[in-house]
Amino acid sequence: MRDDPSHSPDHRGPTTATDSPSGTSSMSSAAHAAPDVRSDPALPRWVTWAFVVNLVVEIGIVVTGGLVRLTGSGLGCPTWPQCTPGRYTPVVKEATSYHIFVEFGNRLLTFVLVAAAAAVVLAILRHLRHRRGFLLPAAALVLGIVAQAVIGGISVRVDLHPAWVLSHFLVSALLIALSVYLLVRLNEGDGPAVPLVPDVVRALAMVTAAVGAVVVVLGTVVTGSGPHSGDAEKPMRLGFAVKDVAWLHADAVLLFVGLTVAVWLAARLTSTARRPRRAWELLGALTVVQGVVGYTQFALGVPEALVLVHMLLAALFVAALTNAVLALRHRHHA
Ligand code: HEM
Repeated sequence: MRDDPSHSPDHRGPTTATDSPSGTSSMSSAAHAAPDVRSDPALPRWVTWAFVVNLVVEIGIVVTGGLVRLTGSGLGCPTWPQCTPGRYTPVVKEATSYHIFVEFGNRLLTFVLVAAAAAVVLAILRHLRHRRGFLLPAAALVLGIVAQAVIGGISVRVDLHPAWVLSHFLVSALLIALSVYLLVRLNEGDGPAVPLVPDVVRALAMVTAAVGAVVVVLGTVVTGSGPHSGDAEKPMRLGFAVKDVAWLHADAVLLFVGLTVAVWLAARLTSTARRPRRAWELLGALTVVQGVVGYTQFALGVPEALVLVHMLLAALFVAALTNAVLALRHRHHA
């Protein structure tokens, strides 16, 4: 970002220049034209890195958490916060299976996550305290991680009941969305939010985001009703028929795809700004790939490897959806 000459401070402020490939603008209003995107050149480089690493680790822990569940390692460490009664680290005996190490490794990754979040909070307190919209998300990030530690602990204590396991995933999804928000805010100013598309398109995008949230929640309900709901050997189930909830989940995806195309088309027709189009194209492409993985894993009887890919793509989907919604407006440097 910082090396891009278009990010030079000399270009601050709204621009009416079109960035459409044809070079023709269909709008005379500056509000729906190309945004002025750049991060603050005065910020130390580590600040941007802290925000990026935080997002990557938030996505990564969804995958390692999935690995724990899919390899049946959830009770590898049978107690929490201690791994085995009286000890915080695994006790290696001849009969010890790999599960204890998978679960313990995932717990260790939590420390990386806490370090990344601490770096973000430190960056905000040291360099961004004067800016709008950072303190509250920083507090939410900390609270979310504390909530995850508590939910993770309860999940172990209730023998991985699916309701707690799926809450664990959903709080992670919220933390990913929050991390994307922070990164987007870092790359813009503190001026008032300027819409890059008409209000009706933004309203349609909000409806699409709500349907996207329903897709994700229904996905966790499918998981909670199937063989990967928690403990691999004696999984408790939410009690729904997997086939029914899986089709409901897939139908919500089809609705989501239709709405995404509608938002993308509307953004193309009503705005010369490139960012909204790009963001919704990325979201659409990711959704199609995720849809193919979803149908394939359903047809193949949910093999663990594909389910893990589906989880990674679900985490990326949350990030892309958050970015797509935020790409419909921009804050210039005040
Ligand atoms: C935008 C597209 C999609 C998103 C964002 C999405 C999201 C999710 C999420 C978040 C989960 C729960 C992950 C977990 O808690 O471990 C899930 C599970 C699942 N999804 Fe999707 N999904 C999508 C498309 C599809 C499609 C089209 C199908 C086709 C039927 C599908 C089938 C499944 C199945 C069978 C599971 C349960 C896998 C398991 O056994 O754990 N998904 N999905």
